Amino acid sequence: MRLGIVGAGEVAGRHAAAAAQVPGLTLTAVADRDPARAAALAGRHGARAVAGLDDLLDDADLVVLAVPHADHEDLALRAAAAGRQVLVEKPMATTAAACDRMIAAAGDRLHVGQQGRFFAQVRAARDELPALGAPLLYVERRSTDYRRPDRPAWFTDRGRAGGGIAMLVGVHSIDRAAWLLGAAIDAVAGTVAVPAGWTVETAAAATLHLAGGLQAHLTLLDTPEFFHETTIVCERGTLSIGPGSLSVDGRRVLSVDGDAEYTASFRRQYQAILRGEPTATLAEARQAVAAVEALYRSAATGGHPVPL
Ligand SMILES: NC(=O)c1ccc[n+]([C@@H]2O[C@H](COP(=O)([O-])OP(=O)(O)OC[C@H]3O[C@@H](n4cnc5c(N)ncnc54)[C@H](O)[C@@H]3O)[C@@H](O)[C@H]2O)c1
Repeated sequence: MRLGIVGAGEVAGRHAAAAAQVPGLTLTAVADRDPARAAALAGRHGARAVAGLDDLLDDADLVVLAVPHADHEDLALRAAAAGRQVLVEKPMATTAAACDRMIAAAGDRLHVGQQGRFFAQVRAARDELPALGAPLLYVERRSTDYRRPDRPAWFTDRGRAGGGIAMLVGVHSIDRAAWLLGAAIDAVAGTVAVPAGWTVETAAAATLHLAGGLQAHLTLLDTPEFFHETTIVCERGTLSIGPGSLSVDGRRVLSVDGDAEYTASFRRQYQAILRGEPTATLAEARQAVAAVEALYRSAATGGHPVPL
């Protein structure tokens, strides 16, 4: 299968490295508005550098969209209308309404890059959970260096990003919680922190109210120090997921190299697409966006639960 990547920024390098490890997948073309970026990534992988989506379609069966969030809908619809399979990076779009339009027009050709599900420690956690009995408490604490000086300008532009840290990495945390707990999200309550002079939040706290009554508590923080810890207290044990580990009641079940595992998560996502196996469903990817929208409405109206 021939792969074309639109957007040769930060995550595109990870896609290209992962694709190079997948037999049957060849990166053939890279497009970016910035020709130097397209040329640099294409050059490293023996692919062709082009200006935009339209120039890449003839060389690609699967088109990856690794561009700012506000461009996801338009590019996905255009690539799918041209008959290509499309893997759009998370978040699926900036609003649930846009997700609905994408599902209606391109649902049979669309995949969303909620690749966090493909980390070995997350998949192992899902396998361990049934033996631990009913989940009683779910807590996740995650950071990203949101204000890193080299962040692109669109990160702080509400129109192009659709939001801040919750739209950027919160969708991963939301998807992990709903997937591991096996329950749909009914409502979200929360708070966001928007620094003075900013239009997007750099920190957020959210409580997901899940079907069946369980809650998941998520804290997203902006700091150069990286942490990503998920703890699930169950009737018969406590499971902890780290950036490269899984433990049950303090006993290490799995240890992996966090950075290598990050690339591996993209590789497994590609392998699933090639085999026609499910990644996140479009309804699940839409749910993550709708949950962020509900969080924003909750934060703007006193922190009460807002239904999806
Ligand atoms: N799954 C993950 O772990 C993960 C990690 C990082 C980013 N992402 C997602 O990947 C996407 C891109 O993020 P990034 O950090 O790589 O951004 P980035 O700013 O580093 O890269 C985006 C690139 O797209 C180019 N571009 C912008 N609009 C374009 C257009 N219409 N056509 C062609 N090129 C265009 C820009 O010039 C830039 O080079 C976002 O959706 C982000 O949330 C996912």
